[in-house]
Amino acid sequence: MTVTSRTQVGIVGAGPAGLLLSHLLALRGIDSIVVENRSRAYCEARQRAGLLEAGTVELLRTVGLGERMDAEGLEHGGIYLQFQGERHHLDFRDLTGGRWVTIYAQTEIVKDLIQARLAAGATIEFEVSDTEVGELDTERPVLRFTDARGTRHEVTCDAIAGCDGFHGICRDSMPPGLVQVAEREYPYSWLGILASVPPSTDELIYCRHEDGFALHTMRTPQVSRLYLQVPADEVIDHWSDDRIWAELKHRLEVPGWELKDGHISEKAISPMRSFVASPMRYRRLFLAGDAAHIVPPTGAKGLNLALADVTVLAKALTSLLKDGQAGPADAYSDTSLSRVWRATHFSWWMTSMLHVDPQSDRFGAELQLSQLRYVISSRAAATTLAENYTGYFPLTWKA
Ligand code: FAD
Ligand code: PHB
Repeated sequence: MTVTSRTQVGIVGAGPAGLLLSHLLALRGIDSIVVENRSRAYCEARQRAGLLEAGTVELLRTVGLGERMDAEGLEHGGIYLQFQGERHHLDFRDLTGGRWVTIYAQTEIVKDLIQARLAAGATIEFEVSDTEVGELDTERPVLRFTDARGTRHEVTCDAIAGCDGFHGICRDSMPPGLVQVAEREYPYSWLGILASVPPSTDELIYCRHEDGFALHTMRTPQVSRLYLQVPADEVIDHWSDDRIWAELKHRLEVPGWELKDGHISEKAISPMRSFVASPMRYRRLFLAGDAAHIVPPTGAKGLNLALADVTVLAKALTSLLKDGQAGPADAYSDTSLSRVWRATHFSWWMTSMLHVDPQSDRFGAELQLSQLRYVISSRAAATTLAENYTGYFPLTWKA
């Protein structure tokens, strides 16, 4: 038996994009359902991004999601860039007229969003299976799924948002031949760890070492997060905790500064990829976040882009569904893609400047070092990095 129902917006995926979209639509009086194929505990524990642009922080505050972020988030006014054994500071506030970033983990944003949605009485169906989107040629697209108890559902919607990440089903549900893909794979991966040890630094350290990139970031004053460049096909079993710490120290330490080590609570390897699918819309099916685009994490943009997409989309859907105005929905894909391509370029640039390319040669390495020296010595070049890192495009949402 199939249970039929009706809502205004069907949202596939309870990641940051799907959950924030549901929250923003509710603020505008628009009903939605969120379906998610993993459990709530899995969504709340999945280790991913940690850095929010100033505009993302301001948006979350404006929409009533700032309380815990303001209490627990760590505001940073710059980063360190390290190469050839020397560490240099970039002061974002000075370079950009006061802009900053905040460390607040994606896990915490997801927890805050799930709690806010459930407290408001929203429907989030976790542990669904066989999600499908259909009737996409009509103005009443349909979302189908089987809930955790095994009941099949068919929800008729006014619009569907594909917020189902890179491996979701919505992008591939668009008509064949519509979606164009532009992509790059990188010949290296990141090994990331979460460690129960206070950060050894006040701000993030991005390090180009001749044996590979390393990044020291953090989650809280007690928890550090660190990353190492490893070969693209590397397997985690080759990396004992001792080997990880030894390599991090080898790449990150400079005279007079030591990296504190501690218990590693999580470790995983993530591939690096740039991927942009366009358009991000077919009629009343809209893609947002990783469902439409992926960036390598060196620019810390993935989460910020996902939240920016749904801010634009929530406004567009409000105009479409409440005021009958199609203009913002028609512009959604182009508006989002211009932000996405800026972040795609920045993430590619940071990645190419800071990683050791195993296929490169002396010429490539000297170009990277020259670029790094230029960034730390030219105010114009440093400003370019700072204004992209802190968020180039403004995000607006009226309370
Ligand atoms: P997601 O967070 O992927 O959420 C999509 C949701 O859809 C998931 O919960 C998934 O379970 C669900 N879903 C998928 N298919 C279906 C289906 N058929 N039916 C129902 N639900 C479905 N960014 C950074 O800035 N820094 C980092 O260090 C960083 N590390 C990352 C590490 C990994 C392993 C990955 C995958 C990403 C990382 N990112 C990082 C990127 C960042 O986390 C993402 O850009 C962000 O999660 C995008 O949010 P989203 O909501 O678009 O997608
Ligand atoms: C993180 O905190 O996980 C993080 C921060 C900055 C990056 C990537 C990841 O560029």
